[in-house]
Amino acid sequence: MSVVGIVPAAGAGERLGADVPKAFAVLGGRPMLEWSLDVLREVCDRVVVAVPPDRAAPPDFVPGGATRSASVRAALDAAPEASVVVVHDAARPLVTAELVRRCIDALEGFDGAIAALPVTDTVKVVDGAEIIRTPDRGRLWAAQTPQVFRAEALRRTSGEGTDDAALVEATGGRVCVVEGIPENFKVTTPLDMRIAEMLLC
Ligand code: CTP
Ligand code: MG
Repeated sequence: MSVVGIVPAAGAGERLGADVPKAFAVLGGRPMLEWSLDVLREVCDRVVVAVPPDRAAPPDFVPGGATRSASVRAALDAAPEASVVVVHDAARPLVTAELVRRCIDALEGFDGAIAALPVTDTVKVVDGAEIIRTPDRGRLWAAQTPQVFRAEALRRTSGEGTDDAALVEATGGRVCVVEGIPENFKVTTPLDMRIAEMLLC
């Protein structure tokens, strides 16, 4: 079994508004990306990173695409040896090796296993300003990364999704959730950056 980590890190980070792409913004004294790389390298046989094209350094830092899904695809194409892939966003620097391992262990009997958290807020489906529906919160989970897949299940996917699990589900793949950790939140805004900084230092 060859476990390859895939890190989408090619986004611009528009909402963060730093002077460098988000994955390269300095967090706790080093580029944000490096926190995730340390963790994935502990668990995976190899890690392939999709980066902005001007930062590419093959074979392990490959040019990303215009969308997150395209970036994941580019990294996956650079890892033909993978039998299991661990997709993890550079924007979640507080991931732990323990969480990655729990997702890999949960793959037994499934095509994918993803970190997720039970939703604590009540979620509304809205059209304009009007609430159309209030789904049963007891069945709602918020997806995180790591998202671990049998490589062939991810290779079979195409198109765009807000996460990789959605693409695998769309091809009929079976994906399960693994209870994640709240500190593994996605750094999106300057406020998130300050919170991550507090937790890491
Ligand atoms: N990502 C990527 N390629 C893209 C877009 C996003 O590899 N074309 C990556 C980001 O680098 C990030 C992850 O996907 O690690 C999640 O995306 P997001 O948090 O939206 O990051 P950005 O797209 O960089 O941020 P923004 O949407 O604010 O511009
Ligand atoms: Mg984005």
